Amino acid sequence: MREPQATEVVRVDPDHPAADAIARAAQLIRCGRLVAFPTETVYGLGANALDAAAVRAIFTAKGRPPTNPVIVHVNDAGGAATLVRQWPPLAEQLAARFWPGSLTLVLRKRAEVPDVVTAGGPTVAVRAPAHPVARALIAAAGVPIAAPSANPSSRISPTQAEHVLQGLAGKIDLILDGGATPGGLESTVLDLTVAPPRLLRPGLISPAEIESVIGPIERPSHATGKVDLVQGAKSPGQLRRHYSPSVPIECAADDGRSRVLELLNSGYNVGWLAIDPAETIPGVTTHVLPNDAISYSARLYAALFELERAGVDCIVAALPPESDEWFAVRDRLRRAAG
Ligand code: TXA
Ligand code: MG
Repeated sequence: MREPQATEVVRVDPDHPAADAIARAAQLIRCGRLVAFPTETVYGLGANALDAAAVRAIFTAKGRPPTNPVIVHVNDAGGAATLVRQWPPLAEQLAARFWPGSLTLVLRKRAEVPDVVTAGGPTVAVRAPAHPVARALIAAAGVPIAAPSANPSSRISPTQAEHVLQGLAGKIDLILDGGATPGGLESTVLDLTVAPPRLLRPGLISPAEIESVIGPIERPSHATGKVDLVQGAKSPGQLRRHYSPSVPIECAADDGRSRVLELLNSGYNVGWLAIDPAETIPGVTTHVLPNDAISYSARLYAALFELERAGVDCIVAALPPESDEWFAVRDRLRRAAG
């Protein structure tokens, strides 16, 4: 598989992407090439999921360990059903309620799904994204699209085309630039191969919402945030320190102000990820994010990218409350802090 020479960026309207741009991207996917595209969560790095060589190229571009399986994107339950051995009633109920959307379901795979997609495991993760650009690309490609987040392995997921370019320029063929992704955090991942179903990664679709459709699921506690450290191998992306900025980040138990001042007084160039309301501190690069989990999530990764770019030595993040709505945010902040 030859290395792409340069990465082309094509701007598309996020709601009504131009047919020619989508056709070009779809053609590349069908030829085994790599295309980054926006979803409603974060940007994905897509390849034809049924082409093992193309999916291997994703792992190479990202520097992703081959032990970490990738999510396959389809447009509906019918598309998902072609990839799995069985499409159980639970999957049908969840898809009816949450698809297209940011819920990923783990099910037993069919033989046609290449081993590289599932890291050699017997299960495959499937999701129908809601973003019009992602949906148009899947439809035009005519194949399911394997896509992890479009960042170098173990770095922050991109929520803007510019973030993708920063991490993967020269390593992928095309980026469909549909602007900032609305959700900002990766999808909720739910394992349906165990009873009760197990939450493998918290996301914007909360455990309570899932439980309102299918009843009790196994989920981590708010206090420890421990999902499956024991089950690490089950969803390798959930190993700690997965979503890490290149500068050290620590979570404060309070608003972070006193820790920021302490580091500032010790001579550090500190970045502060605060929650509204917060008074800025002279000499500290501060991002005040909204005190509302949905808006906060949409802006979290962009704020981390900007703090990195500002050249701070370390980042102090205020830890949001232990409530269901902030569950995914706390998970990502904890993992970023490692
Ligand atoms: O929102 C999202 O999910 C984004 C967009 C692009 O769809 N994708 C994404 O992919 O975040 P990635 O590869 O960065 O994270 C996928 C997560 C990882 O934690 C991976 O280990 C887990 O899903 N996963 C994938 N296949 C799995 C499987 N068969 N069993 C268990 N976990 C799986
Ligand atoms: Mg990722």
